[in-house]
Amino acid sequence: AKCLQKTDAFLHRSIGTDVVIARAEATRSDESDEKNGRKSLHTLHMERQEQAERSVLISCQSSTNEKKFLKYLSKHGEINKYFFYESYGVYAVVEFANQESVTSLLEGVAIPGGSHESAVPFKSRLLSLRNLGSVDSSNQLSGRQCQPQTTIPINELIKRLSREESIDKQISSLTEAYQLTEENSRLRFLVCSLLKDIATAYFPECTIKPFGSSVNGFGKLGCDLDMLLDLDSITGRNVKLPKSGLSLEYQMKRANSERAVTQSILSVIGECVDQFGPGCVGVQKILNARCPLVRFAHQPSGFQCDLTANNRVAMKSTELLYLYGELDPRVRSLVFTVRCWARAHGVTSSIPGAWITNFSLTVMVLFFLQKRTPPIIPTLDHLRDLAGPGDKSVIEGNDCTFVSDFNKIQLQSNTETLEQLLGEFFEFYATFPFSRMSINIRKGKEQNKPEVAPLHIQNPFETSLNVSKNVNASQLDRFVALCQESAWLLQQSETSTPRGGGAGGEGAPTPWGLATLLLPSQVAGIKSRKKRRREPASERIKGLLESLKNKNQLKKS
Ligand code: CTP
Ligand code: MG
Repeated sequence: AKCLQKTDAFLHRSIGTDVVIARAEATRSDESDEKNGRKSLHTLHMERQEQAERSVLISCQSSTNEKKFLKYLSKHGEINKYFFYESYGVYAVVEFANQESVTSLLEGVAIPGGSHESAVPFKSRLLSLRNLGSVDSSNQLSGRQCQPQTTIPINELIKRLSREESIDKQISSLTEAYQLTEENSRLRFLVCSLLKDIATAYFPECTIKPFGSSVNGFGKLGCDLDMLLDLDSITGRNVKLPKSGLSLEYQMKRANSERAVTQSILSVIGECVDQFGPGCVGVQKILNARCPLVRFAHQPSGFQCDLTANNRVAMKSTELLYLYGELDPRVRSLVFTVRCWARAHGVTSSIPGAWITNFSLTVMVLFFLQKRTPPIIPTLDHLRDLAGPGDKSVIEGNDCTFVSDFNKIQLQSNTETLEQLLGEFFEFYATFPFSRMSINIRKGKEQNKPEVAPLHIQNPFETSLNVSKNVNASQLDRFVALCQESAWLLQQSETSTPRGGGAGGEGAPTPWGLATLLLPSQVAGIKSRKKRRREPASERIKGLLESLKNKNQLKKS
């Protein structure tokens, strides 16, 4: 943000009235929104979607002269906001104040020619900047002016955390470093908007909405972009039929099931994305999955994209997670920390398999926070009881109703610190009776397992489903072992107090606190022991912890 402000200031100076930057105003209104109450996910969607419609994505060269570039674009109208980022080259996101500016800009855009390859004549708002004149060496774009779209590497994070003076500050610093930036969020909505332009060729009223970690408040920079092709305005879900008199209806082709319709729509849109979508590569149609999807990479943004349709329950769970994250700042911080810790130790993975997913892990954190005394967040059943008539939602027979008005939710005054909560989280799951009990955020209380599965987490809306059905016993064992070890590490005074040394600047600071929990070497012992010894996991870990404790006592005495 600092770098961006600099660019804005530079712009005012150098271009004066040619380009009017409304960013300062925008920031002020965002701030007052935050003070006056939280934005609903719906409002956020509307705002961001609308901004995305007025935006274009331009591939630039690093030799691009920023001043000239903006002067050229602002001929078409006022620019509200712009930023640069790097992904296979330098790109600019430019948001105009008015939609007409985009139309005007596109009128003057040329069709590529002159190469031995032929172009598919599909026009979109993804453009390339050509500069045929002389290269002006002043004011060229540099890496410094680019907004980062990926997280810092883990070893750098560990260094950064080690310089903090408390575990609470480490947790906040991790959240700060990992969370999506304002720019990244805009880019996500812009990619949805660009894809919508492809889908509207068949379904003019459709929208494409991001869901999952791109918008639920728990996404880290670089997370995948989950998208929902929303056809509700066409499928009649939101349309009321007249009770009497004449009326007309469309003749429509019919298929055997809703699933078959979803599959055929995704198949066609997937084909269009593959054949016509500029920048979309590696398109895979995964139509036989429980939730059919089209997966591809959007190269200009660097996003791995999953496009689904008719997935309204997922949108509801996104809303629910967003709501929980907004209720208390400790929720997001703890989720970020646990997600990062899990990734560092390979508890979660980017490859699908028997691993615990980020979604499962998030639900586990929410459940833990419901189990505090007093609870930090309410149960889903309580949120349902607070719902007003407008909140009612039943999807395919599943009750997805819960309150949307933040002001109706009364929180209890729990004053536990993040440091306490992190330690307690590890202890909670180090001793949780996974073999008998199911995690249930609807009730906020563990329930008897309805079916055999190593890890059972009830899907909050499709209550007969287990969110973590994919997890096998050895992955759960590893998770529990790591929780035990991390809980223990946080109880050791050597680990839980700042180490000093190096903090002044020279050399790498000694890892302590949260940083220690992210070090890979801490789990190596458990892993290799596991391979060598065959006794039950609990015995093995007990043994390991005992030996660690003994070693520690020896050192102290
Ligand atoms: N979802 C769900 N039930 C599941 C899995 C996923 O309802 N069993 C919904 C959740 O709303 C989830 C979204 O689908 O947030 C996207 O799933 P996924 O991409 O797996 O998780 P994310 O929360 O987006 O996390 P990540 O950063 O790992 O992508
Ligand atoms: Mg996701």
